[in-house]
Amino acid sequence: MRELPQDLLAWYDEHAREMPWRVGPAARKAGQLPDPYAVWMSEVMLQQTTVAAVRAYHDKFMTLWPTVDDLAAADDADVMAAWAGLGYYARARNLLKCARSVVADHDGKFPQKNDELLTLPGVGPYTAAAISSIAFDEPSVVVDGNVERVMARLHDVHDPLPAAKPKLTALAAKLTPQKRAGDYAQAVMDLGATICTPRNPACGICPWRNPCAARTAGTAAELPKKTPKKKVPTRKGIAYVARRTDGAWLLETRPESGLLGGMLGFPTTEWGDAPEANPPLITEWVTLNSQARHTFTHFHLELTILTTTVDDQTPPERGFYIAHKDFDPTSLPTAMRKVYDKIAATLRDD
Ligand code: ADE
Repeated sequence: MRELPQDLLAWYDEHAREMPWRVGPAARKAGQLPDPYAVWMSEVMLQQTTVAAVRAYHDKFMTLWPTVDDLAAADDADVMAAWAGLGYYARARNLLKCARSVVADHDGKFPQKNDELLTLPGVGPYTAAAISSIAFDEPSVVVDGNVERVMARLHDVHDPLPAAKPKLTALAAKLTPQKRAGDYAQAVMDLGATICTPRNPACGICPWRNPCAARTAGTAAELPKKTPKKKVPTRKGIAYVARRTDGAWLLETRPESGLLGGMLGFPTTEWGDAPEANPPLITEWVTLNSQARHTFTHFHLELTILTTTVDDQTPPERGFYIAHKDFDPTSLPTAMRKVYDKIAATLRDD
């Protein structure tokens, strides 16, 4: 077992992926460590999201708010708007809470140890381990989906996920080295992302091809096993798109606690099997002949779109108007952006 981490680290020295928030293996060996703020931001963004999608958002956030003090002082609405399109918006709300806690409770410095990191909003076991290992070289056990797959194959574990998680975590813990822990954590993730991929793993060029039990057994491509997920239900809703004759758009900020919490959007009904009408204005509404569809983690959403134009200054029952010149559709979460795109398509046809 002893040489397994060393073999992987030697591979990583040659093949580490370049990422804006990463300090490569050569610079780390020379004593350089990455900015914990940039690492934390990357790890929060990378939960449920690919490296390819995260790059541009990470750049944008680091440009807008280069330090944790800058982010802590930001307006909530600006941060939510900048996050629009990345999904899982609780992450953005927790990002702000966490930045404010680091500034208020930790003198603006990210803690180094897992147990302290775990007290921060939005920081769970994975993120705490990733930050302590990548930013501070603590020998924490970092287990994401990539690592689970690599461990399941290396040890030919056929127990299905998610129940197999503790077993795979224990196997990962046995391998985690005391030295170069940050490089090692990133190396396992890179191996999972580039070689030990879900489909068609490139076993022939894997640094762990010889010790890999699943390769020997011929089972690599079918691991990890997964307990089948329940079928995803479909919920319905109505999105109300009202514009004033001067072109202003009626929008609302969604309640903090629900789905898309804290995000800007068109007023909607509740989402469910047969939602009750709940228009933000009492007026005539016209049904668009096309729906907006979006898939969340646990359900599909079908939004029927009703539109209206109001020519008076009647205040709406909820929401607020945003002048057309101030309305930036890129600040909408993707489900709402799809509603906007349907409307924009009708405007182009006119
Ligand atoms: N996925 C999540 N965090 C990562 C990291 N630091 N390196 C590679 N892949 C990752």
